[in-house]
Amino acid sequence: MKRRSLLAASVTLSMAPGLLASCARSSTPVEQTGYLKNGMYLSDNFGPVKVETTTTQLEVLGKIPEELAGRFLRNGPNPVGEVNADAYHWFTGNGMVHGVRLDGGRADWYRNRFVGTGEVSGPNTHVIGHAGRTWAIVESGTPPMELGYELEPVGPRAGWDRFSAHPKYDPVTGEIHAICYDWANLRDHVEYVVRDTEANLVKSVDIPLPGMPMIHDMSLTNNYVVIYDLPVTLSFQALALGADFPFRWDDDHEPRVGLMPRDGSAKDIVWCPVSPNYAYHPMNAYEDNDGNVVVDICRYERMFNADTNGPFGDSLPRLDRWTFNPSTHRTTEEIVDERPQEFPRCHPELNSMPYRYGYSLAVGERKFPAVYKHDMQTGTSSTFNFGAGRHGAEAIFIPKENAESEDDGFLMTYVFDESRKASELIILDALDMTRPALAQVLLPVRVPYGFHGSWVPDDEVS
Ligand SMILES: [Fe+2]
Repeated sequence: MKRRSLLAASVTLSMAPGLLASCARSSTPVEQTGYLKNGMYLSDNFGPVKVETTTTQLEVLGKIPEELAGRFLRNGPNPVGEVNADAYHWFTGNGMVHGVRLDGGRADWYRNRFVGTGEVSGPNTHVIGHAGRTWAIVESGTPPMELGYELEPVGPRAGWDRFSAHPKYDPVTGEIHAICYDWANLRDHVEYVVRDTEANLVKSVDIPLPGMPMIHDMSLTNNYVVIYDLPVTLSFQALALGADFPFRWDDDHEPRVGLMPRDGSAKDIVWCPVSPNYAYHPMNAYEDNDGNVVVDICRYERMFNADTNGPFGDSLPRLDRWTFNPSTHRTTEEIVDERPQEFPRCHPELNSMPYRYGYSLAVGERKFPAVYKHDMQTGTSSTFNFGAGRHGAEAIFIPKENAESEDDGFLMTYVFDESRKASELIILDALDMTRPALAQVLLPVRVPYGFHGSWVPDDEVS
């Protein structure tokens, strides 16, 4: 394990975040990330696959843990037909879900399916199991698409106007919480919603916000809903130019994070400043013994400023810890790990609670070369390198049935192998990142770089 200087630099913000930020931040290289080229998000393994594949003949290297019975699912953009490379935004491609079913040490099948039905472009960002069903989900005004067990689209979820790509699961109640924005229909507020274990709407709160910010994710703690109001907002100029994805960096939008009591409403939100940045994904959030709200989050210095085709051309994200004092409204920002990384995850049953281990994907120039395991308690990390010419994706942590520690479980992700021009599902031992993969399920096709997914155990779907 490599010991790094945890929290190497810090800054405290109260009333003038911009001034403090300018003297205290270190920043990742801007416009030098290798992504700022036309067509980058259509090139190499970002490019779409053209066909739906079903195979039940899968070669497996190593040994799949016998206790794993379910599907490893991942959603991502896969544009259909001809695409204008200059205008294409990575977030707008048609949804395609990839899945591998495991049972009793076997890999039963691989399937990829377009999420949409007919002319309807389906959600492309995440796929989850909830209320006994499988859901493809996205933000920005599209309802979830229900999928069948073999990933066939069942149909848009009736009665849902919109949802989020990142509902937060509450391990205590089994409910899911989401912040939903919908720029075409809601221009002055976002919605916070709670859906119960049957997916019924049990709470909805309108949160007025200036400037229609893009709010990709949220956090929960025991007492708070955490709202990321950051300076990427709806651009009327981009809209007028017909942009597929009309959100841009906005220097005039005050970056702040809201703490709304779970039983409160918009008038109860405590707003705390943060330095100018954009963040898609918190690793986790919780309340410390002093009542502060602690958020570990992947933070970009800039977003959609120079690069209007995807997220990686302006800066690459690092891992930060933000601590908010709800009484003083003061914020402390600390750098946890300056290495570029994204798609952070943690133990699913520790979401919203104090935790020790988090996992993230290394981001390099056009590459995703490794997965990091962070020990947030000791400030150490360990790395699993995918190997030369091999690039990964978001790694999901799956606890073992009889786990003896928080990190006693498996990490699963898809890896693209340049030499085979095809992908594989790999299963790692999260306890020991120095071990070779426990299993590699070789797929006959590529799984393009995409977004988010889930391990959906069979006993959680009807
Ligand atoms: Fe996301």
